[in-house]
Amino acid sequence: MISDPHILELHAHFPNLQGETENATSKLYMSTINILFIGDIVGNAGLDAVRLFLPSLKQQRDIAFVIANGENAMEGKSISEKQYLELRELGVHIVTSGNHIWEKWHIKKLMAAEAELLRPANYPRDNAGHGYAIVPIGAAGSVGVLNLQGRTFMSPIDCPFRTAEWAVDRIREQTPIILVDFHAEATAEKIAMGWFLEGRVSAVVGTHTHVQTADAKVLPGGTAYITDVGMTGPYDSVLGMRKDIALRRFIKQTPHKFEMATDDVHLSAVIVTVEVPTGKAVSIEPITLPEFTRDAE
Ligand SMILES: [Fe+2]
Ligand SMILES: [Fe+2]
Repeated sequence: MISDPHILELHAHFPNLQGETENATSKLYMSTINILFIGDIVGNAGLDAVRLFLPSLKQQRDIAFVIANGENAMEGKSISEKQYLELRELGVHIVTSGNHIWEKWHIKKLMAAEAELLRPANYPRDNAGHGYAIVPIGAAGSVGVLNLQGRTFMSPIDCPFRTAEWAVDRIREQTPIILVDFHAEATAEKIAMGWFLEGRVSAVVGTHTHVQTADAKVLPGGTAYITDVGMTGPYDSVLGMRKDIALRRFIKQTPHKFEMATDDVHLSAVIVTVEVPTGKAVSIEPITLPEFTRDAE
């Protein structure tokens, strides 16, 4: 209900304007928060990019909440306790993951102990770790983060759609501000998840394929969407791995030990702006730091 005397006076003179000013006024009073989501951090080079860019990004873009996918931080496979703690220290509220998180033995213990380190919720339930978290952020309430993994061209784990339904219903009992990291290979499965959760979550962002896609948008129901946020790591590589070794694997069709690349490091992320009382996304902005040079060097 509007109580501003200037607007009430305006309504008295121009009754036709009443609806329009009510809409404009409610928009004016609606507050928003900026949430930063950092795509798959690959190796120490990726962590360097987070160290370098996160502090200034937080300040310059008024970031209230940070999520980062850490499945590849430890030489491409999983995340060490030290790396996880450093990310938290740098201001990352929630670390999400995916298929590679399981590739080191220590991770089960770490995930069982740390509620802020997520694994996809649709891995069979008796696995270690948590698939979602709800984090208080002061006056703006709390933010829910849900991690899911696709099944197309990946392990046949539990249904991500049914798991999403179950988890989102539970999270929405506490907050409408919900970000989903959908760690999946197939573009179609990711787009389908965006439409499945449209209007029920603030954002569905894709991870795992390590290349930022050009389809960031807010779906009509107020859900921000991007098929893949992209990799935070070395781009003089094949998805973070040394080019020569990746080529050998393709050409010889036999196993060759992967090693991390180190050069041309970029941070890939999105900033999602969300209305606080409703959880609806206002915008999604893809970021690459430093930006890629498109001219020949
Ligand atoms: Fe990844
Ligand atoms: Fe992955």
